Amino acid sequence: MKLNSLKGKNILVTGASGGIGSAISLKISQLGGNPIMHYNSNRNIVKTLLDEINKEGLLADIIQFDINNELELKSAIDELKKKYSKIDGLVNNAGILTRGFIAMQSVEKFRHIVNTNLVGSFAVMKYISQIMIRQKSGNIVNVSSLAGTMGLKGQSAYSASKAGLNSLTQIAAKELATFNVRVNGVSPGYISSGMLKEPTEQDKQNKEAILLKRFGSSNEVASVVAFLLSENSSYITGQSIIIDGGLSISV
Ligand SMILES: NC(=O)c1ccc[n+]([C@@H]2O[C@H](COP(=O)([O-])OP(=O)(O)OC[C@H]3O[C@@H](n4cnc5c(N)ncnc54)[C@H](OP(=O)(O)O)[C@@H]3O)[C@@H](O)[C@H]2O)c1
Repeated sequence: MKLNSLKGKNILVTGASGGIGSAISLKISQLGGNPIMHYNSNRNIVKTLLDEINKEGLLADIIQFDINNELELKSAIDELKKKYSKIDGLVNNAGILTRGFIAMQSVEKFRHIVNTNLVGSFAVMKYISQIMIRQKSGNIVNVSSLAGTMGLKGQSAYSASKAGLNSLTQIAAKELATFNVRVNGVSPGYISSGMLKEPTEQDKQNKEAILLKRFGSSNEVASVVAFLLSENSSYITGQSIIIDGGLSISV
């Protein structure tokens, strides 16, 4: 089998209209899979990506829902069930970041971040895992963050939501292994696209602490996600792989 082949696999990628989700979708299509590219508000981005992928003679599809609207999300996944005989993979990648010290952070904002990043990812995993349980196969990759392992100053809601997601990865791996479903995660550090396209002064200072002395690219995240989705990682489940250029071990 070709390295990391995803030939014939239907894989839902949430947040495909964002920097990392676009790169993951492109990588899946290049490896022979069919990325089902989810967006919430930025349809034009996934539509352009779809056209580019199709122009290369590769497969892709588009789906829309607000991750915070369970009814909308469930009905979009019901449509997928009708359209495809199998959903082979899920990349739970949609997420948002806000910054603010705990003393200054509104409870409402904290709740919104946790709802989007953690409860939203849970909801997608719930409905997609029901399909995978029935078909007795599947593969889930949760896109977490180094913040979920280290807890970053000024990012309480974001860090807590990603720590919760890491926990969900382990629990889902335990609950789904018996149904031939693997569940893993990736924890990127600083990636110079998407939500960190415009790094703050603090981000720039932190760059000095990265062993490789640079931010990562969305393609470097996509390569690890593709590995976890492929048969090359067939004995790995319940793990979250840190992709941070060595930042987390630099002190
Ligand atoms: N960039 C980094 O350095 C970095 C580092 C560590 C982890 N991550 C993680 O990587 C993932 C992708 O990040 P990114 O940098 O690519 O971010 P991004 O470019 O800002 O993309 C965020 C994505 O999430 C979707 N989204 C936001 N709110 C949503 C909602 N209510 N319902 C459904 N979808 C929603 C957006 O959809 P629309 O645009 O269509 O609304 C968009 O596709 C996130 O989970 C993030 O935490 C990123």
